[in-house]
Amino acid sequence: MKRHIALACGIGLLWGGTALAFLRAAPDVLPVEPSESYRPEKPSPPAMQVEQDRFRDVENSDFPLLQKPLDALSGFPLDKQGRVDWSGALLGGIITPRASLTPGVEQDLLDLDVIMRNTRAMPHVRFSHLAHTRWLTCANCHPNPFPYRAGILRINMADIFRGKHCGMCHDRVAFVTWQSCERCHSVPRSRPPQ
Ligand code: HEC
Ligand code: HEC
Ligand code: HEC
Repeated sequence: MKRHIALACGIGLLWGGTALAFLRAAPDVLPVEPSESYRPEKPSPPAMQVEQDRFRDVENSDFPLLQKPLDALSGFPLDKQGRVDWSGALLGGIITPRASLTPGVEQDLLDLDVIMRNTRAMPHVRFSHLAHTRWLTCANCHPNPFPYRAGILRINMADIFRGKHCGMCHDRVAFVTWQSCERCHSVPRSRPPQ
């Protein structure tokens, strides 16, 4: 069955506005996980359906002919928020995107983790090149926004929420940043924060 992947990509946009409010509300020493009071309701499947229909013209008489997102996405792995885990879907072979429009071109994979430690009280960030180069090419990130050398940039969450660095894609076409701290901040600290 043909999957309509693009439909899900816009969902992240809906949440972006709340991110800065969260950042302002964050205490100096941040909890490892956002406390329950920060956590929005999980979207139930019908809520997801409504969110996705906001990107399509439901008034169009041919609308009923379109594949329904919930049908297209049934059987996809979900993240903690109940949204599709696209990395999981790729690894599980549920989707098999092409590397290029030109037949025979392969993804240029790079197995290199960069551990980013400027995270205050939060666990450190593991940036996995492997997870990203399954979808993306070096030029998507190098030299802009990331130089070919780790540790030069000063990255902070306010900039990420505003769409810089990781935020060029996360919250936009990749998973929602402000609800999924632990997916990036995944490396336990060896020492307690100073
Ligand atoms: C898409 C990945 C990603 C997600 C999701 C994410 N972060 Fe970050 N975070 C980073 C990166 C990258 C840095 C910078 C690390 C460095 O430069 O060493 C960072 C830095 C930080 C810092 C230190 C800098 C600053 O802004 O004060 C804090 C605190 C932080 N994150 C908290 C959070 C919290 C809380 C959440 C969830 C609401 C979150 N992060 C979600 C990637 C992420
Ligand atoms: C999705 C974004 C993204 C893609 C795609 C990507 N990189 Fe990176 N790369 C990063 C980030 C983030 C860093 C760390 C930057 C920092 O710490 O300031 C990095 C760092 C590096 C470094 C420096 C490592 C070090 O320890 O100094 C090299 C070399 C590198 N990348 C090569 C590549 C190559 C080759 C490809 C393609 C096969 C690639 N990258 C694809 C985001 C990406
Ligand atoms: C050029 C776009 C782009 C940039 C920049 C980018 N990412 Fe991603 N990232 C993606 C895509 C696409 C995926 C796969 C789709 C998804 O999981 O939503 C992904 C997935 C991930 C995952 C899940 C990997 C897994 O194995 O489950 C993590 C963690 C992550 N990114 C962290 C980061 C961090 C940290 C940064 C910044 C240092 C960053 N990303 C910058 C596009 C990007």
